[in-house]
Amino acid sequence: MQKIVGEMTFKKISILIVIALFAVVSACETIMPDEPAPEEVLAEPIEDLTPAQLNLHLQGDGEFARIFSQAEGLGPIFVQASCESCHIGDGKGHLFTALTRFGQYEQDGVTWNSLLNQGGPQLQHRSIANYPAEAIPNGVRQATFIAPNVTGLGFLEAVTDQTILDLMNEQALAGIVSGTVNYVDAPDFFTPKAHHIPNGQGQYIGRFGRKAAAIDLVHQTTNAYKQDMGITSDFDLQDPINYAVSGLSGDNVADPEIPAGTVNAVAFYIQTLKAPPRRNTNDPQVIAGENIFKQIGCENCHKQTLTAGPSIISEINNKDFHPYTDMLLHDMGPELDDGYTEGSVATSEWRTMPLWGLGLQKDSQGGTQFLLHDGRATNYNQAIQLHGGEADFARANYRQLSQAQKDQLFKFLDSL
Ligand code: HEC
Ligand code: HEC
Repeated sequence: MQKIVGEMTFKKISILIVIALFAVVSACETIMPDEPAPEEVLAEPIEDLTPAQLNLHLQGDGEFARIFSQAEGLGPIFVQASCESCHIGDGKGHLFTALTRFGQYEQDGVTWNSLLNQGGPQLQHRSIANYPAEAIPNGVRQATFIAPNVTGLGFLEAVTDQTILDLMNEQALAGIVSGTVNYVDAPDFFTPKAHHIPNGQGQYIGRFGRKAAAIDLVHQTTNAYKQDMGITSDFDLQDPINYAVSGLSGDNVADPEIPAGTVNAVAFYIQTLKAPPRRNTNDPQVIAGENIFKQIGCENCHKQTLTAGPSIISEINNKDFHPYTDMLLHDMGPELDDGYTEGSVATSEWRTMPLWGLGLQKDSQGGTQFLLHDGRATNYNQAIQLHGGEADFARANYRQLSQAQKDQLFKFLDSL
């Protein structure tokens, strides 16, 4: 063998390599499954974007996938180096990429302190070379969060504050469940839209994040760049640092590390991701499951249909959509009370998780499902069994179902 190779010219070897590669590639083509149908894919732009909008969407898509290096400003402390590493394929995250947040109540037992001067509210457990990663201060409260999917959020962003407040009032009147909103301090860069309604203290309704602490997608994206990746922007010029050590320079990259345009492009990208598509809607089992879902009271919180307010994106503008959330926070009982919170929300309160995309999310979670804010449930039954507090009645109804009815309910959830 060696002798033959020795006699071959470089050119001949190259040709052989090319032929071998070609054989491998064609073999792959025959083994690889066809491209998935559009209704099986989460990460697609909504359909009727103008060419300029599609361009901005694609720019944001690139930035969402961009992996930051230390030279580009990553850190000095961070959790992951790209948005996509947690929101894989725009889908739900995994336990491996979960975030840890911490804080504590003040002496009064009512005012929540996010411990900004001790590195709160988020732990950055990784760091660049020669810089110590952060540790959680002693004696504080903490919770774990897995990444939600980011599709369809443009619709949720366009729901008017009035719609959310109306829903809250309807629930208070009906007396079955009693959702609330989280009023949060607006960051300096926040520009209210016509539909935003501040409260008496000039705070705005939060709608993104599991405690609803971010007002809009630019707010959420700015926080993600800083807290998750240690990337400063025109909107927030301060890198996260390790407060336990002093006298260390940061990442030695001039701030802002990215311009406002990049943050806006990424927010626009998320805004213009299509709503997760439904599947198997004609399957009798799915239809039966949907009826059960409504009968046992799940829809009180996981509201099937919401209506968007005005939007520059024509597919969103004043349109009905089906997220299966009321965007309100509910007391879920001791089962889901981690002792941690954000803003004025009680520690047992969580924003109703939108259920759209449930059936497609397993793909981004490595085949297993991780449900609830920290992924503690690995199937629908476990997730529902952990619904206490305001959802106690729905859980009690669920427990009365036969296994066949539960299976129908699960088929319905998988179709979302
Ligand atoms: C380390 C993992 C991680 C990284 C990196 C990350 N995220 Fe997230 N993301 C999360 C988690 C966890 C949540 C839920 C946070 C919460 O509930 O407050 C979240 C929430 C969100 C939400 C709100 C979703 C909703 O339904 O309310 C958006 C939008 C978002 N991220 C966008 C981004 C963008 C844009 C980037 C990059 C700039 C990014 N994320 C980077 C983990 C991550
Ligand atoms: C009182 C309001 C309320 C009711 C009623 C309710 N849920 Fe939920 N549901 C929530 C909240 C809030 C969460 C998020 C909890 C968390 O993040 O830990 C949630 C989470 C879920 C999840 C996990 C979603 C995910 O992506 O992690 C599923 C599945 C679910 N609910 C199904 C149901 C079903 C089925 C019913 C009816 C038996 C139901 N829920 C009734 C409020 C409610």
